[in-house]
Amino acid sequence: MKTMPYLGAGTFRLKEQAAYDSVMMALKAGYRHIDTAQIYGNEAEVGNAMVDSNVPRKEIFLTTKVWMDKFSKETFLPSVHESLEKLKTDYVDLLLIHWPLKNEEVSMQEYLTELKAAKDQGLVKQIGVSNFTNAQLKQAIEILGEGVIYTNQVEVHPYLQNRKVVELCKANDVIVTGYMPFAYGDVLKDETIIRIADSHKATPAQIVLAWMRQNDFVTIPSSTKQKNIESNLKADSVTLSQSDLEEIATLDRNHRLANPDFAPEWD
Ligand SMILES: NC(=O)c1ccc[n+]([C@@H]2O[C@H](COP(=O)([O-])OP(=O)(O)OC[C@H]3O[C@@H](n4cnc5c(N)ncnc54)[C@H](OP(=O)(O)O)[C@@H]3O)[C@@H](O)[C@H]2O)c1
Repeated sequence: MKTMPYLGAGTFRLKEQAAYDSVMMALKAGYRHIDTAQIYGNEAEVGNAMVDSNVPRKEIFLTTKVWMDKFSKETFLPSVHESLEKLKTDYVDLLLIHWPLKNEEVSMQEYLTELKAAKDQGLVKQIGVSNFTNAQLKQAIEILGEGVIYTNQVEVHPYLQNRKVVELCKANDVIVTGYMPFAYGDVLKDETIIRIADSHKATPAQIVLAWMRQNDFVTIPSSTKQKNIESNLKADSVTLSQSDLEEIATLDRNHRLANPDFAPEWD
């Protein structure tokens, strides 16, 4: 089975032509991992870009996420079929529960059973969760068994290092996918990051992406600009020293951006 490349292209906020162009630029530049979601409203454009890029489907690691209003057993699998139709593919590589339900209007048992059914039916290769707290991840592992949850996609960047969540994921062999690696641009203005970037003749974004990689996080920055899409991919060739890593570790400050009113009680 394909493994998830450590660097993918995110598509949150990208609509219509911007979503198509961003995914097309990413695939042309050499990205082979694309992250979308039902709620982003761009699965059709992502699918069109994948088809038009002529990159063979089997080379692309594609993730989508089921939105919270589709968690019941009546709506879950039909929504996955709808996603596949929009994405113009007969499977996704990874299907995630986008957010846990705060008040379990649908029980976790019910929606994880549907998630597993999507895998058993061959609609998806791997299954995982997003924005799950440690208590919720433990509950999910109890329901699905060990070794089933591929990733927990959570906000991670130098200003929100999410150490407790990372520790539990690592202990259970659950990959941490860190979303919003640049804190939507905030960490790229950080003096320490800029100084380390200068010392490596790299961009601040490359420093953040190297930090993610060297901490074993998969990550999915988004960009609408060819120059940024291409230079982000070159973060591969940047290797931070132990002292760079230690300095970036001190930047942690609980600076959380994705915190809607339906968010769980964070660890
Ligand atoms: N699971 C979830 O609940 C969840 C929540 C949020 C996000 N996500 C995923 O994570 C992805 C990334 O998060 P995000 O898009 O919110 O934030 P982000 O990746 O931290 O930041 C995106 C911003 O960074 C800029 N940027 C990218 N490369 C740059 C570079 N080299 N130099 C300077 N600026 C650069 C982009 O501007 P330009 O367009 O100008 O390059 C854009 O404004 C999303 O697209 C989505 O796929 C998941």
